[in-house]
Amino acid sequence: MLRIRPLLLAFAIALPLAAQPDKKKNQAIGNPEAIESGRKLFSTGCAGCHGQAGQGGRGPNLKGRGMWHSLDDDGLFNTIKKGVPGADMPPSNLADGELWQLVAFVRSINAPAVEQNVPGNTDAGSSIFWGKAGCHNCHQIRGRGGLSGPDLSNIGATSTAGDIRDAILDPDADWAENYRKVSIVRHDGRTLEGILRNRDNYSLQVQDATGKLHLLPINDVKEYTLKRPSPMPKDYKTRLDGREMSDLVAFLSRQSMRPPESETEKGKD
Ligand code: HEC
Ligand code: HEC
Repeated sequence: MLRIRPLLLAFAIALPLAAQPDKKKNQAIGNPEAIESGRKLFSTGCAGCHGQAGQGGRGPNLKGRGMWHSLDDDGLFNTIKKGVPGADMPPSNLADGELWQLVAFVRSINAPAVEQNVPGNTDAGSSIFWGKAGCHNCHQIRGRGGLSGPDLSNIGATSTAGDIRDAILDPDADWAENYRKVSIVRHDGRTLEGILRNRDNYSLQVQDATGKLHLLPINDVKEYTLKRPSPMPKDYKTRLDGREMSDLVAFLSRQSMRPPESETEKGKD
């Protein structure tokens, strides 16, 4: 009896591990190297339909979180592996490890930074924010700081780490193709603010703040205005080195008004 027990135990543990992708987060998720490998795989195998940055094209936009928050990591894995039968999304014959790299990349472009375990020294990032970079002159976090820029107390919950990084390094990137802030007035007087995702001769596709896409026939639109460029300094690329940027992004990624899951559990009474 005693001799058989460890064997049984090992068997019982090994089975579920082998059968299914684990419930725990796969190690690729949030791992910068895996994300980078995933980006390359995406660029060759997926970008043709989903766009280089996942902004959409023949396949749907993978950045618009509102559209598909229902897919968890395993769901995402299975969709990429098996494709979507009947739709134009082909199955993949990549190895599981590579598929997880793709999942990690897709997560990195749509999951809130606070869920991503973004690497970097958050204390150092905090010093940069409140010190040499002067971010606090324009931005508040939890009641402290300047008011001319948006409050960043919840930025980790509302943005991806990539978006935070872009906002700092390339404040005008918002105006890049498929990501322009726009305000629209329709002939019937209704207005709409959002991000211009697509524009052709017949229609505008605008995503509002909730993530919902609006398809507006051009004939319904009286006027639309692309918003002015950002007042943010444009020289952080040279003022901060790579390490400092990572620390700053890590610090901002953790700014969330909602405590992380583990703390919510602990905090329950
Ligand atoms: C031939 C075009 C094409 C290629 C190549 C392609 N996709 Fe898709 N993909 C689609 C279409 C079309 C859909 C929408 C299917 C549907 O109607 O639900 C889709 C759906 C998805 C979804 C689900 C989105 C959602 O809203 O549920 C994910 C995730 C995805 N693709 C990721 C990938 C990845 C990663 C790759 C590369 C390995 C890839 N796709 C390659 C066309 C493509
Ligand atoms: C001169 C004022 C100013 C300074 C200094 C400044 N910002 Fe900004 N920032 C703004 C304004 C205004 C916006 C909103 C317009 C826009 O999107 O660019 C903004 C936008 C942002 C956003 C996007 C917010 C969102 O809700 O999408 C982030 C993130 C950000 N700033 C971070 C920083 C960080 C980090 C620093 C320091 C390295 C910094 N900013 C320095 C004025 C400033």
